[in-house]
Amino acid sequence: MLRYIDFVDHKYKPKETDLICEFHVEPLNQPIDVIAGGVAAESSVGTWTELTTEKPYIKEKAATVYSIEGNEIKIAYPEELFEPGNMPNILSSVAGNVFGLEDIANLRLNDIHFPEDITLSFKGPRYGIKGVRDILKVHDRPLTGTIVKPKLGLITKDHAQVAYDAWLGGCDVVKDDENLSSQRFNPFEERVVKTLEMRDRAEEETGERKVYLINVTAELEEMKRRAQYVEDHDGRCMMIDILTCGWSSVQTMRDAGYKLAIHAHRAGHAAFTRSHVHGINMRVIAKVARLLGVDQLHVGTAVGKMSETAEEVIENKKACVEPMYGIKPVLPIASGGLHPGMVPKLIEYFGKDVVIQAGGGIHGHPDGTVKGATALRQAVDAVMKGKTLQEYSKDHPELEKALTRWPVV
Ligand code: 3PG
Ligand code: 3PG
Ligand code: MG
Repeated sequence: MLRYIDFVDHKYKPKETDLICEFHVEPLNQPIDVIAGGVAAESSVGTWTELTTEKPYIKEKAATVYSIEGNEIKIAYPEELFEPGNMPNILSSVAGNVFGLEDIANLRLNDIHFPEDITLSFKGPRYGIKGVRDILKVHDRPLTGTIVKPKLGLITKDHAQVAYDAWLGGCDVVKDDENLSSQRFNPFEERVVKTLEMRDRAEEETGERKVYLINVTAELEEMKRRAQYVEDHDGRCMMIDILTCGWSSVQTMRDAGYKLAIHAHRAGHAAFTRSHVHGINMRVIAKVARLLGVDQLHVGTAVGKMSETAEEVIENKKACVEPMYGIKPVLPIASGGLHPGMVPKLIEYFGKDVVIQAGGGIHGHPDGTVKGATALRQAVDAVMKGKTLQEYSKDHPELEKALTRWPVV
């Protein structure tokens, strides 16, 4: 008869085939080991009372709490508990009912380690960092990008013009904002055609490759239709709001075999990630998104307007790039409240493999979007040449002007 406490075994040595989860757990009234056992039970084979239907072989399939240090616990799950290739199934166990148990004040899934077989049951990114760099033909510096702003409301012609200006000024990528899809003022099809026309013009004029990250976020069948439309019009990338669309649609979009790279926006993540004691850590979301096959992912900024600490952002980035049984690394995107004066710090945190995206930090440049994009690119060039922004700005007036509005941090 399995009671909660029977799911705790300090002597248990996790097997290579186990799926491991690290939780922060705060019990309400009961001892931590009982509650830790409860998390393992409820996320595997157990429940709150003893069962008449239990068979002797059930015990072998139970998850085991093998480490309790303060409020941090580690649980090993036999891989046979999960259906390979089925992420909703896995998350319904390890990130499911347990968050709502009455005896737990707070529970946070802080990390997850997938064993090899489960990992390789997913495709992972089609392009990853190298593939995205190959598309842009830029291999030796951080990429720069912008979000068309104002985030909603521009009519299509003006949207395409802002994109053109940003590419012309030096941005590698231009993206839609997370809440732009196909509103009446800026319908999807028209936007694809007009903005890609501007992309081609900017490529001709600058001699550089440019990418438009168009937001295809919608109901799944409609999203597939939109991705096909982008592909038919010679687009190179689609953007998906992965959390509001849901994991199974992300997987379907990856597995459908489009040639488009997938840019993953994480709008809504902070509902899971922001509390440090409850919810799901962003690095778990990053690992899941990577397995399902996004090519690039917003991971926070460490500086800028988003609330995550530098340590958290570095962990998120690690989840994108650390070895994962041959699954390709995901290109981290830094976005949210950025401007040229933050570039040295960003490169210190991220290294070269990052897209530095600024919305307000480009379109808010005193001389407009073209100069704003130039200033951001100059800031990257300065760091790559080992110069301070102040030095470099002496003969780069766009950067100089940007720094008068937003000083170096
Ligand atoms: C993020 O989650 O990284 C931010 O919300 C910023 O993303 P955005 O620049 O595309 O909106
Ligand atoms: C957002 O929605 O937060 C952004 O797209 C980032 O914009 P920002 O660079 O103006 O903060
Ligand atoms: Mg945005």
